[in-house]
Amino acid sequence: MSVAHYFDTMDYGPAPEADTEARAWLKSHADGFGNFIAGRFTEAAGRFDTVEPATGKVLASIAQGSAADIDAAVAAARKAQGRWAGLGGPGRARHLYALARMVQRHARLFAVIEALDNGKPIRETRDLDVPLAARHFYHHAGWAQLQEREFPDHVPVGVVGQIIPWNFPLLMLAWKVAPALALGNTVVLKPAEFTPLTALLFAELAAQAGLPPGVLNVVTGDGATGAALVEHAGVDKIAFTGSTEVGRLIREKTAGTGKSLTLELGGKSPFIVFDDADLDGAVEGVVDAIWFNQGQVCCAGSRLLVQEGIADAFHARLKRRMASLRVGHPLDKAIDMGAIVAPVQLERIRRLVETGVKEGAQKYQPDIPLPKGGSFYPPTLLSGVHSASTVATEEIFGPVLVSMTFRTPDEAVALANNTRYGLAASVWSETIGLALDIAPKLQAGVVWVNATNLFDAGVGFGGYRESGFGREGGREGAYEYLKPKAWAARRPRPAPSPLPQLAAAADFGSPAIDRTAKLFVGGKQARPDGNYSRPVLSPKGRLVGEVGEGNRKDVRNAVAAARAAEAWSRASAHNRAQILYYLGENLSARAAELAGRIAAMTGATPAKATAEVEAAIDRLFTYGAWADKYEGAVHTPPLRGVALAMHEPIGVVGVVCPDEAPLLAFVSLVAPLIAMGNRVVAVPSERHPLAATDFYQVLETSDVPAGVVNIVTGEREALAKVLAQHDDVDALWVFGSKEASAAAERLSVGNLKRTLVDHGLATDWSDPAQAEGSILLRHAVQVKNIWIPYGE
Ligand code: NAI
Repeated sequence: MSVAHYFDTMDYGPAPEADTEARAWLKSHADGFGNFIAGRFTEAAGRFDTVEPATGKVLASIAQGSAADIDAAVAAARKAQGRWAGLGGPGRARHLYALARMVQRHARLFAVIEALDNGKPIRETRDLDVPLAARHFYHHAGWAQLQEREFPDHVPVGVVGQIIPWNFPLLMLAWKVAPALALGNTVVLKPAEFTPLTALLFAELAAQAGLPPGVLNVVTGDGATGAALVEHAGVDKIAFTGSTEVGRLIREKTAGTGKSLTLELGGKSPFIVFDDADLDGAVEGVVDAIWFNQGQVCCAGSRLLVQEGIADAFHARLKRRMASLRVGHPLDKAIDMGAIVAPVQLERIRRLVETGVKEGAQKYQPDIPLPKGGSFYPPTLLSGVHSASTVATEEIFGPVLVSMTFRTPDEAVALANNTRYGLAASVWSETIGLALDIAPKLQAGVVWVNATNLFDAGVGFGGYRESGFGREGGREGAYEYLKPKAWAARRPRPAPSPLPQLAAAADFGSPAIDRTAKLFVGGKQARPDGNYSRPVLSPKGRLVGEVGEGNRKDVRNAVAAARAAEAWSRASAHNRAQILYYLGENLSARAAELAGRIAAMTGATPAKATAEVEAAIDRLFTYGAWADKYEGAVHTPPLRGVALAMHEPIGVVGVVCPDEAPLLAFVSLVAPLIAMGNRVVAVPSERHPLAATDFYQVLETSDVPAGVVNIVTGEREALAKVLAQHDDVDALWVFGSKEASAAAERLSVGNLKRTLVDHGLATDWSDPAQAEGSILLRHAVQVKNIWIPYGE
């Protein structure tokens, strides 16, 4: 073969990375790996093999963790937690720096083991997974160092169970373990069954680097091991990344247990190319979006949306580029794509592509060689796809791009948002005004402008809608591993006193009822659908009034009204602030009347009732103040560019109020939500609802647009359940009882709504530390990170 021949063909030979060190490490564990508990490998009862996807050969024998192993690991983590937290931030920072350096020192070994175990190209593990894992430990060493200054009002959550998938085994470990440990928690980690090796290597090296026993425990195994961890009573929080299906199961299992939960689930992310985009740049973007890691990426740009006028030209360029992609052995440094993680995943990809073709898509696969023996699949383009077809809606989790066209920016947004997921999106346009107009309209936790698949430890990552909740990375990710001190001090609510009996009306006195308060829906007073009402009694049984008995239909109407009030979410923060001030002012004008009402319903002394109204007025002014100040941040990740962390409203939020402080609690919950641009369906105190129904007269006179606040009175638990099951409710806050809290969490799995519940713990609504400010504002927004790289 002559040099001229190579010049003509531009063929490369293989450039294999040496695996000597990796094989030696595997050989040193030839008897099989145990679980890593309390600083050492334990004996395994059951075992399974982990296999090299590129060849089908066995790599190592792995422990199938049992419930007893989980028990031992949780006990070890519990034992270590107090001392670990007690080390203090700076003490833990030293350990995290040591872990970061340890990852860097062994970078090549990690990269090779990862490529062997997962099948992904060494180029990716070496240049992305491993360096980014190290960066997570460095970044979070910083949060540990600053914890006492930056999070003085928070304490660690405790023992955290973390369950991770197989697509980024080491990187997902870092995303989960670094913040948890940095902020004083201890961990039981369950790696994915296909890819346990780098987690075991990490645990072994971490112990050598001086990480105290029990701080990080690794229990390997399949879904049953994961389920045992989820169900273990000694775990305070579960952090999960994986399929939406398993995410739902975990939501159900943890409901009502008091465990906190973050879910990072699937996606079907749009990759939008406008006709003024740099087309060659966008083609390279597609390569990174869907053929990076063989498309096994939760935020893969798997739905290509191209503006109609350039679609043919774009597809032609894309196909040409696809034909030059190289699929090969993961350790070959010259390849673009490696192996699919396992035969079962390969089968799933094949099946979905066949379905796509049956549904009318045109399939293009370049004529490129695939290695023999392992689980390989070629880069694939399905064009002419219908937006409702299986391949356009299901996560394929493989190297398969589906393509659709659009005409106008509005149509692009509609198509992009036509998914139950909301993890990420890419927008390609040379017109910055257009790109930045589109980004906020996309229902996604991450938006990349003229880029794709950018990640950093300092920039939060996580989804909207059924892509899960919670964020990883940055300040918002840190909060996921902390709990407010003020809430940690809450105690179970005392059992309510028995309902008073309706007392006989005083002879010849004036009638007690002046009216039946209606519901408040879409800015209007509305009769309850069932035409039933419920009495509101004073503690002595005097009839103070009546309210409507709201039912499922009433909630549906209220949710529809709240959905229609969507303009509120786009209103300027200044505008929302003004309205909150106005609400405060108008409540103030009726203070005496409301105080009288509170006293009559609750039996509070006039002074106490007046103090409650005054506190509610103050709270409205406080949220008027916050409305244009609780803002996002600008991050400067290590690239030329910025990431804008935007605080966006969640959408329609259900609010179920407790019985204590009926006006103040109602205002404390509703005001932060509307200040941040959400629309609310509120269920006031079940026993003392009249303060809230009086409040709608304040709403009516304060320029609050119709549908922004809707009020449905009735039975707490029943209405909480209806709200939890309603798929047009995006989040649900339930305060007032343990049962309603549990039901809200359990029944919210349909659309995986974000829940904030009190688990039956009593909040002191008069204490701003427990009931005002960022403690609630954080739950009233979701963070969208918009990445804007610039320069060369
Ligand atoms: P999976 O969701 O079943 O597995 C993820 C992790 O959860 C693994 O560690 C697994 O052992 C564990 N797990 C499974 N069942 C569990 C249970 N009942 N309780 C607790 N833990 C449990 O994902 P799988 O089966 O590996 O892949 C299936 C599909 O899921 C993929 O084709 C893809 O569509 C999606 N997926 C999405 C990921 C993402 O990052 N969003 C990652 C992996 C898979």
